[in-house]
Amino acid sequence: MPEEKNQKVTIPLLQDKKKQKEKIVAVTAYDFPVAKIVDECGIDLILVGDSLGMVVLGYENTIPVTMEEMIHHAKPVGRASKRALVVGDMPYFSFHLSIEESVVNASRFLKEAGTKAVKIEGASKKRLKLIEALIDAEIPVMGHVGLTPQSIHHFGQFKVKGKEVDEAERIITDAINLEEAGVFSVVLECIPMEVARIITEKLKIPTIGIGAGPYCDGQILVFHDLVGFSNGYLPKFVKRYADLHELISGAVKDYIDDVKGGKFPEDKYSYHLNEKEAAELAKKEAETLGKKKKRGK
Ligand code: KIV
Repeated sequence: MPEEKNQKVTIPLLQDKKKQKEKIVAVTAYDFPVAKIVDECGIDLILVGDSLGMVVLGYENTIPVTMEEMIHHAKPVGRASKRALVVGDMPYFSFHLSIEESVVNASRFLKEAGTKAVKIEGASKKRLKLIEALIDAEIPVMGHVGLTPQSIHHFGQFKVKGKEVDEAERIITDAINLEEAGVFSVVLECIPMEVARIITEKLKIPTIGIGAGPYCDGQILVFHDLVGFSNGYLPKFVKRYADLHELISGAVKDYIDDVKGGKFPEDKYSYHLNEKEAAELAKKEAETLGKKKKRGK
């Protein structure tokens, strides 16, 4: 790998990329093999997102995802990533009861899974206080504004936020408040590009967009969307760079046909006895058969 591709991504390095006007590239991962591939490709930031619930665990939304599930999936990602900055997503209700419990939950990402930071949705006053407490406990925090999927039952549906001036201003204020509370970066999800541009120009910390247009300091996509793992609904902002669903379906259908048609396994996928062992085994089998016949079995 070239020198730059090998350099471990730290929070100061990520923030420096904004100053250098170098785009930050992020993606989600939830297991060892995918984290290893994206890390080796030179991704800057891997988010173990609670999108896990929808793309891997089969939930309808991110609400049911638990801390245990997040830690279980964050551990292999932490082990696989040698270069990228790994961030663990705080799932719904892991940071809602008390500051103490939330700090303990967040610390598990760092202590048990080896992530370097956590991400938290929202920017209410209570949330800002919590973010300050996390930073005070040496836990770096990434913010998340715009469409915050854990608020699905407030929103009613997943749709673009900030299309009216009032809401756009609220999102801009939220992002500024998060920066003041000390987050090292902020995800802007599903907002008009004009609003993302204002936020990106106002903030010193990097903005990472998903459905927020080209003016953000970086971009993030859900891995399974980017590689076309599922053939279900995809939001407008997703660019599919591969069609894994098609590729995997083709491979599995060929396997089914081969097994049913007796074409797999061919000789090259099978093991052989050597001649001596084969002859001896055949002799023993013949003797056993002879004895059984004598006994009339
Ligand atoms: O959970 C997730 O994958 C996320 C990204 C979409 C930013 O929060």
